[in-house]
Amino acid sequence: MAIYWPKIGKITTTNNFMDNKTQRDTTFKKEVLEGLSSFPKYLSSKYFYDKKGDKLFQEIMAMPTYYLTKCEFDIISTNTREIGELFRDRENGLDLIELGAGDGKKTKVLLKYMVENNFNFVYKPIDISENAVELLTQNLASEMPNLSVDAEIGEYFQVLERLKVFDKRKKVIMVLGSNIGNLRHPKAIEFLSKLKDTMLPDDLLFMGFDQKKNPQTILDAYNDKEGITAAFNKNILTRINRELSGNFDIEKFTHWESYNPETGTAKSFLVATEAMDITIDKLDTTIHFNKWETIHTEISQKYNDEVVGWLANQAGLKIESVFADERRYYKNYAFSKAQD
Ligand code: AVI
Repeated sequence: MAIYWPKIGKITTTNNFMDNKTQRDTTFKKEVLEGLSSFPKYLSSKYFYDKKGDKLFQEIMAMPTYYLTKCEFDIISTNTREIGELFRDRENGLDLIELGAGDGKKTKVLLKYMVENNFNFVYKPIDISENAVELLTQNLASEMPNLSVDAEIGEYFQVLERLKVFDKRKKVIMVLGSNIGNLRHPKAIEFLSKLKDTMLPDDLLFMGFDQKKNPQTILDAYNDKEGITAAFNKNILTRINRELSGNFDIEKFTHWESYNPETGTAKSFLVATEAMDITIDKLDTTIHFNKWETIHTEISQKYNDEVVGWLANQAGLKIESVFADERRYYKNYAFSKAQD
Protein backbone atom coordinates (compact mmCIF):
# COMPACT_ATOMS: atom_id res chain seq x y z
CA MET A 1 0.00 0.00 0.00
CA ALA A 2 2.74 2.47 0.87
CA ILE A 3 3.52 2.91 -2.81
CA TYR A 4 0.25 4.77 -3.31
CA TRP A 5 0.97 7.62 -1.03
CA PRO A 6 4.11 9.26 -2.46
CA LYS A 7 2.27 9.70 -5.77
CA ILE A 8 -0.56 11.54 -4.06
CA GLY A 9 1.67 14.01 -2.27
CA LYS A 10 -0.60 15.82 0.15
CA ILE A 11 -1.89 12.72 1.93
CA THR A 12 -0.48 11.82 5.28
CA THR A 13 -1.11 8.58 7.06
CA THR A 14 -0.12 7.07 10.33
CA ASN A 15 -1.01 3.47 9.46
CA ASN A 16 1.18 0.49 8.95
CA PHE A 17 -0.71 -0.86 5.95
CA MET A 18 1.05 -4.26 5.76
CA ASP A 19 0.13 -5.13 9.33
CA ASN A 20 -3.41 -3.98 8.78
CA LYS A 21 -3.69 -6.01 5.60
CA THR A 22 -2.50 -9.20 7.31
CA GLN A 23 -4.95 -8.53 10.12
CA ARG A 24 -7.81 -7.99 7.66
CA ASP A 25 -6.98 -11.21 5.77
CA THR A 26 -7.00 -13.21 9.00
CA THR A 27 -10.35 -11.73 10.07
CA PHE A 28 -11.82 -12.43 6.62
CA LYS A 29 -10.81 -16.11 6.86
CA LYS A 30 -12.14 -16.46 10.39
CA GLU A 31 -15.47 -14.79 9.65
CA VAL A 32 -16.08 -16.67 6.41
CA LEU A 33 -15.48 -19.98 8.16
CA GLU A 34 -17.71 -18.97 11.07
CA GLY A 35 -20.55 -17.72 8.86
CA LEU A 36 -20.59 -20.61 6.42
CA SER A 37 -20.37 -23.21 9.22
CA SER A 38 -23.38 -21.70 11.03
CA PHE A 39 -27.02 -22.50 10.60
CA PRO A 40 -28.53 -20.52 9.00
CA LYS A 41 -25.46 -19.43 7.02
CA TYR A 42 -24.41 -15.80 6.92
CA LEU A 43 -21.60 -13.57 5.65
CA SER A 44 -20.94 -9.94 6.47
CA SER A 45 -21.81 -7.30 3.90
CA LYS A 46 -18.54 -5.53 4.69
CA TYR A 47 -16.94 -8.12 2.40
CA PHE A 48 -18.84 -6.86 -0.65
CA TYR A 49 -16.28 -4.12 -1.00
CA ASP A 50 -13.18 -4.80 -3.08
CA LYS A 51 -12.25 -3.15 -6.38
CA LYS A 52 -15.13 -4.83 -8.23
CA GLY A 53 -17.54 -4.39 -5.30
CA ASP A 54 -16.73 -0.69 -5.04
CA LYS A 55 -17.41 -0.29 -8.76
CA LEU A 56 -20.72 -2.14 -8.45
CA PHE A 57 -21.68 0.01 -5.47
CA GLN A 58 -20.92 3.13 -7.54
CA GLU A 59 -23.28 1.75 -10.19
CA ILE A 60 -25.92 1.06 -7.54
CA MET A 61 -25.65 4.63 -6.28
CA ALA A 62 -26.22 5.88 -9.81
CA MET A 63 -29.39 3.79 -10.31
CA PRO A 64 -32.62 5.84 -10.18
CA THR A 65 -34.25 3.11 -8.05
CA TYR A 66 -31.51 3.43 -5.40
CA TYR A 67 -32.97 6.75 -4.24
CA LEU A 68 -30.77 7.06 -1.10
CA THR A 69 -27.77 8.70 -2.78
CA LYS A 70 -29.77 11.25 -4.72
CA CYS A 71 -31.84 12.14 -1.62
CA GLU A 72 -28.77 12.70 0.53
CA PHE A 73 -27.03 14.62 -2.25
CA ASP A 74 -30.11 16.87 -2.51
CA ILE A 75 -30.23 17.37 1.27
CA ILE A 76 -26.56 18.41 1.38
CA SER A 77 -26.80 20.56 -1.76
CA THR A 78 -29.95 22.35 -0.58
CA ASN A 79 -28.64 22.95 2.93
CA THR A 80 -24.90 23.38 2.29
CA ARG A 81 -24.58 26.71 4.05
CA GLU A 82 -26.66 25.70 7.05
CA ILE A 83 -24.79 22.43 7.50
CA GLY A 84 -21.40 24.04 6.89
CA GLU A 85 -22.07 26.79 9.43
CA LEU A 86 -23.24 24.20 11.95
CA PHE A 87 -19.81 22.60 11.58
CA ARG A 88 -17.79 25.84 11.75
CA ASP A 89 -15.60 26.83 14.68
CA ARG A 90 -14.23 30.28 13.98
CA GLU A 91 -11.70 30.21 16.76
CA ASN A 92 -9.77 26.97 16.36
CA GLY A 93 -11.10 25.36 13.22
CA LEU A 94 -12.15 21.72 13.10
CA ASP A 95 -11.33 18.17 12.14
CA LEU A 96 -13.90 16.70 9.76
CA ILE A 97 -13.75 12.93 10.03
CA GLU A 98 -15.81 10.84 7.62
CA LEU A 99 -16.36 7.15 8.28
CA GLY A 100 -17.15 5.13 5.16
CA ALA A 101 -16.19 7.98 2.86
CA GLY A 102 -16.53 5.98 -0.39
CA ASP A 103 -16.23 8.20 -3.45
CA GLY A 104 -16.97 11.35 -1.42
CA LYS A 105 -19.39 12.69 -4.06
CA LYS A 106 -21.83 14.13 -1.51
CA THR A 107 -19.13 15.29 0.88
CA LYS A 108 -17.38 17.22 -1.88
CA VAL A 109 -20.30 19.67 -1.96
CA LEU A 110 -19.61 20.50 1.69
CA LEU A 111 -15.83 20.43 1.30
CA LYS A 112 -16.08 22.89 -1.57
CA TYR A 113 -18.19 25.26 0.54
CA MET A 114 -15.78 24.95 3.44
CA VAL A 115 -12.70 25.59 1.30
CA GLU A 116 -14.31 28.53 -0.50
CA ASN A 117 -15.44 30.05 2.80
CA ASN A 118 -12.02 29.83 4.44
CA PHE A 119 -12.79 27.19 7.01
CA ASN A 120 -9.69 26.12 8.89
CA PHE A 121 -10.03 22.32 8.77
CA VAL A 122 -8.54 18.95 7.96
CA TYR A 123 -10.64 16.35 6.16
CA LYS A 124 -10.01 12.81 7.37
CA PRO A 125 -11.79 10.22 5.21
CA ILE A 126 -11.76 6.67 6.57
CA ASP A 127 -12.98 3.68 4.59
CA ILE A 128 -12.64 -0.08 4.79
CA SER A 129 -11.90 -0.18 1.05
CA GLU A 130 -8.24 0.48 0.20
CA ASN A 131 -9.32 1.09 -3.34
CA ALA A 132 -11.94 3.71 -2.41
CA VAL A 133 -9.51 5.58 -0.14
CA GLU A 134 -6.86 5.62 -2.84
CA LEU A 135 -9.24 6.89 -5.53
CA LEU A 136 -10.77 9.53 -3.28
CA THR A 137 -7.44 10.92 -2.11
CA GLN A 138 -6.11 11.12 -5.66
CA ASN A 139 -9.28 12.75 -6.82
CA LEU A 140 -9.33 15.34 -4.01
CA ALA A 141 -5.66 16.17 -4.58
CA SER A 142 -6.46 17.16 -8.15
CA GLU A 143 -9.91 18.73 -7.60
CA MET A 144 -9.19 20.63 -4.37
CA PRO A 145 -5.43 21.10 -4.09
CA ASN A 146 -5.81 23.45 -1.12
CA LEU A 147 -7.69 20.93 0.98
CA SER A 148 -5.75 19.16 3.73
CA VAL A 149 -6.54 15.46 3.59
CA ASP A 150 -5.41 12.82 6.04
CA ALA A 151 -6.86 9.54 4.77
CA GLU A 152 -6.99 6.21 6.55
CA ILE A 153 -8.04 2.65 5.76
CA GLY A 154 -9.93 0.87 8.49
CA GLU A 155 -13.08 -0.70 9.82
CA TYR A 156 -15.50 1.49 11.78
CA PHE A 157 -15.12 -0.26 15.09
CA GLN A 158 -11.32 -0.41 14.83
CA VAL A 159 -10.89 3.29 14.16
CA LEU A 160 -13.28 4.48 16.87
CA GLU A 161 -10.68 4.33 19.64
CA ARG A 162 -8.29 6.44 17.63
CA LEU A 163 -10.89 9.19 17.18
CA LYS A 164 -10.32 10.12 20.82
CA VAL A 165 -7.01 11.75 19.87
CA PHE A 166 -8.94 14.43 18.01
CA ASP A 167 -9.56 16.43 21.17
CA LYS A 168 -7.58 19.61 20.59
CA ARG A 169 -10.35 21.37 18.69
CA LYS A 170 -13.88 20.78 17.49
CA LYS A 171 -14.43 17.58 15.56
CA VAL A 172 -17.30 16.67 13.32
CA ILE A 173 -17.78 13.00 12.57
CA MET A 174 -19.79 12.21 9.44
CA VAL A 175 -21.35 8.89 8.52
CA LEU A 176 -23.35 9.30 5.32
CA GLY A 177 -25.19 6.88 3.03
CA SER A 178 -27.30 5.34 5.82
CA ASN A 179 -24.29 3.13 6.47
CA ILE A 180 -25.58 2.68 10.01
CA GLY A 181 -28.44 0.73 8.44
CA ASN A 182 -26.05 -2.16 7.83
CA LEU A 183 -25.95 -2.70 11.60
CA ARG A 184 -28.67 -4.30 13.70
CA HIS A 185 -30.06 -2.03 16.45
CA PRO A 186 -27.87 -3.36 19.32
CA LYS A 187 -24.72 -2.95 17.18
CA ALA A 188 -25.94 0.46 15.98
CA ILE A 189 -26.35 1.56 19.61
CA GLU A 190 -22.88 0.23 20.44
CA PHE A 191 -21.47 2.09 17.45
CA LEU A 192 -23.26 5.36 18.31
CA SER A 193 -22.31 5.03 21.93
CA LYS A 194 -18.64 4.49 21.06
CA LEU A 195 -18.79 7.52 18.79
CA LYS A 196 -20.31 9.49 21.68
CA ASP A 197 -17.43 8.38 23.92
CA THR A 198 -14.98 10.04 21.54
CA MET A 199 -16.96 13.31 21.53
CA LEU A 200 -16.45 16.48 23.56
CA PRO A 201 -19.33 18.92 24.25
CA ASP A 202 -18.71 21.01 21.09
CA ASP A 203 -18.29 18.03 18.77
CA LEU A 204 -20.96 16.92 16.32
CA LEU A 205 -21.98 13.69 14.70
CA PHE A 206 -23.66 14.14 11.31
CA MET A 207 -25.35 10.99 10.10
CA GLY A 208 -27.70 9.83 7.32
CA PHE A 209 -30.67 7.54 8.07
CA ASP A 210 -32.84 6.11 5.30
CA GLN A 211 -36.50 6.40 6.30
CA LYS A 212 -39.41 3.96 6.24
CA LYS A 213 -41.55 4.46 3.14
CA ASN A 214 -43.64 2.53 0.64
CA PRO A 215 -42.27 -1.02 0.98
CA GLN A 216 -42.25 -1.44 -2.79
CA THR A 217 -39.93 1.56 -3.18
CA ILE A 218 -37.52 -0.11 -0.76
CA LEU A 219 -37.71 -3.49 -2.46
CA ASP A 220 -37.08 -1.84 -5.84
CA ALA A 221 -33.98 -0.11 -4.46
CA TYR A 222 -32.43 -3.48 -3.56
CA ASN A 223 -33.67 -5.61 -6.42
CA ASP A 224 -32.95 -3.84 -9.69
CA LYS A 225 -33.91 -5.51 -12.97
CA GLU A 226 -30.43 -5.01 -14.40
CA GLY A 227 -29.01 -7.32 -11.75
CA ILE A 228 -26.43 -4.84 -10.41
CA THR A 229 -27.42 -5.42 -6.77
CA ALA A 230 -27.43 -9.17 -7.43
CA ALA A 231 -23.86 -8.96 -8.80
CA PHE A 232 -22.88 -6.82 -5.78
CA ASN A 233 -24.31 -9.40 -3.39
CA LYS A 234 -22.64 -12.27 -5.26
CA ASN A 235 -19.29 -10.48 -5.24
CA ILE A 236 -18.78 -11.87 -1.76
CA LEU A 237 -18.63 -15.38 -3.28
CA THR A 238 -16.27 -14.19 -6.02
CA ARG A 239 -13.98 -12.84 -3.31
CA ILE A 240 -14.02 -16.15 -1.46
CA ASN A 241 -13.16 -17.92 -4.72
CA ARG A 242 -10.28 -15.57 -5.48
CA GLU A 243 -8.87 -14.82 -2.05
CA LEU A 244 -9.52 -18.10 -0.27
CA SER A 245 -9.36 -20.50 -3.26
CA GLY A 246 -13.03 -21.41 -3.11
CA ASN A 247 -15.00 -23.04 -5.94
CA PHE A 248 -18.43 -21.38 -5.69
CA ASP A 249 -20.35 -21.57 -8.96
CA ILE A 250 -21.84 -18.07 -8.81
CA GLU A 251 -24.53 -18.96 -11.34
CA LYS A 252 -26.00 -21.46 -8.91
CA PHE A 253 -26.94 -18.73 -6.43
CA THR A 254 -29.75 -16.28 -6.77
CA HIS A 255 -30.07 -12.87 -5.11
CA TRP A 256 -33.16 -12.48 -2.89
CA GLU A 257 -34.39 -9.35 -1.15
CA SER A 258 -37.01 -9.07 1.59
CA TYR A 259 -38.43 -6.07 3.43
CA ASN A 260 -40.40 -6.18 6.66
CA PRO A 261 -42.41 -2.94 6.88
CA GLU A 262 -43.10 -3.53 10.56
CA THR A 263 -39.47 -3.66 11.70
CA GLY A 264 -38.13 -1.57 8.79
CA THR A 265 -35.51 -4.22 8.02
CA ALA A 266 -34.51 -5.02 4.44
CA LYS A 267 -32.53 -8.25 4.18
CA SER A 268 -30.40 -9.61 1.35
CA PHE A 269 -29.80 -13.29 0.79
CA LEU A 270 -28.00 -15.57 -1.63
CA VAL A 271 -30.05 -18.70 -2.25
CA ALA A 272 -28.54 -21.97 -3.50
CA THR A 273 -30.60 -23.18 -6.45
CA GLU A 274 -29.29 -26.74 -6.12
CA ALA A 275 -27.55 -28.95 -3.56
CA MET A 276 -23.76 -28.69 -3.75
CA ASP A 277 -20.48 -29.06 -1.87
CA ILE A 278 -18.13 -26.10 -1.94
CA THR A 279 -14.47 -26.50 -1.14
CA ILE A 280 -12.50 -23.56 0.21
CA ASP A 281 -8.84 -24.59 0.07
CA LYS A 282 -7.38 -21.83 2.23
CA LEU A 283 -9.86 -22.70 4.98
CA ASP A 284 -9.24 -26.44 4.56
CA THR A 285 -12.96 -26.97 4.50
CA THR A 286 -15.92 -28.23 2.49
CA ILE A 287 -19.30 -26.55 2.96
CA HIS A 288 -22.48 -28.37 2.05
CA PHE A 289 -25.51 -26.52 0.67
CA ASN A 290 -28.97 -28.04 0.48
CA LYS A 291 -31.16 -26.97 -2.40
CA TRP A 292 -32.73 -23.55 -1.51
CA GLU A 293 -30.40 -23.06 1.44
CA THR A 294 -29.62 -19.41 2.14
CA ILE A 295 -26.67 -17.22 3.01
CA HIS A 296 -27.84 -14.04 4.72
CA THR A 297 -25.49 -11.29 3.55
CA GLU A 298 -26.86 -7.87 4.51
CA ILE A 299 -29.40 -5.89 6.46
CA SER A 300 -30.35 -2.37 5.39
CA GLN A 301 -32.39 -0.92 8.22
CA LYS A 302 -34.99 1.82 7.58
CA TYR A 303 -35.90 4.32 10.28
CA ASN A 304 -38.31 6.99 11.46
CA ASP A 305 -37.80 9.90 13.90
CA GLU A 306 -38.96 7.80 16.86
CA VAL A 307 -36.45 5.04 16.20
CA VAL A 308 -33.59 7.49 15.58
CA GLY A 309 -34.57 9.33 18.79
CA TRP A 310 -34.56 6.03 20.68
CA LEU A 311 -31.15 5.01 19.27
CA ALA A 312 -29.73 8.43 20.16
CA ASN A 313 -31.14 8.25 23.64
CA GLN A 314 -29.76 4.77 24.22
CA ALA A 315 -26.34 5.93 23.04
CA GLY A 316 -26.24 9.15 25.09
CA LEU A 317 -26.64 11.47 22.12
CA LYS A 318 -28.92 14.44 21.58
CA ILE A 319 -30.48 15.41 18.25
CA GLU A 320 -29.50 19.01 17.39
CA SER A 321 -30.87 19.37 13.85
CA VAL A 322 -32.64 17.32 11.22
CA PHE A 323 -32.47 17.81 7.44
CA ALA A 324 -34.83 16.00 5.06
CA ASP A 325 -35.34 15.78 1.31
CA GLU A 326 -38.62 16.95 -0.25
CA ARG A 327 -40.30 13.55 -0.13
CA ARG A 328 -38.91 12.78 3.36
CA TYR A 329 -37.44 9.57 2.02
CA TYR A 330 -34.17 10.25 3.82
CA LYS A 331 -32.91 12.34 6.73
CA ASN A 332 -29.58 13.61 8.02
CA TYR A 333 -29.39 14.20 11.76
CA ALA A 334 -26.78 16.26 13.62
CA PHE A 335 -26.17 14.92 17.14
CA SER A 336 -24.20 16.27 20.06
CA LYS A 337 -23.17 14.43 23.18
CA ALA A 338 -26.06 14.50 25.69
CA GLN A 339 -25.07 16.23 28.92
CA ASP A 340 -25.90 14.28 32.06
C1 AVI B 1 -23.68 0.87 2.14
N1 AVI B 1 -25.07 0.53 2.46
C2 AVI B 1 -25.68 1.56 3.29
C3 AVI B 1 -25.88 0.14 1.30
C4 AVI B 1 -27.33 -0.16 1.76
O1 AVI B 1 -28.23 0.50 1.23
O2 AVI B 1 -27.51 -0.99 2.64
C5 AVI B 1 -25.30 -1.08 0.59
C6 AVI B 1 -26.20 -1.64 -0.47
N2 AVI B 1 -26.61 -2.88 -0.53
C7 AVI B 1 -27.37 -3.06 -1.58
N3 AVI B 1 -27.47 -1.92 -2.21
C8 AVI B 1 -26.74 -1.01 -1.54
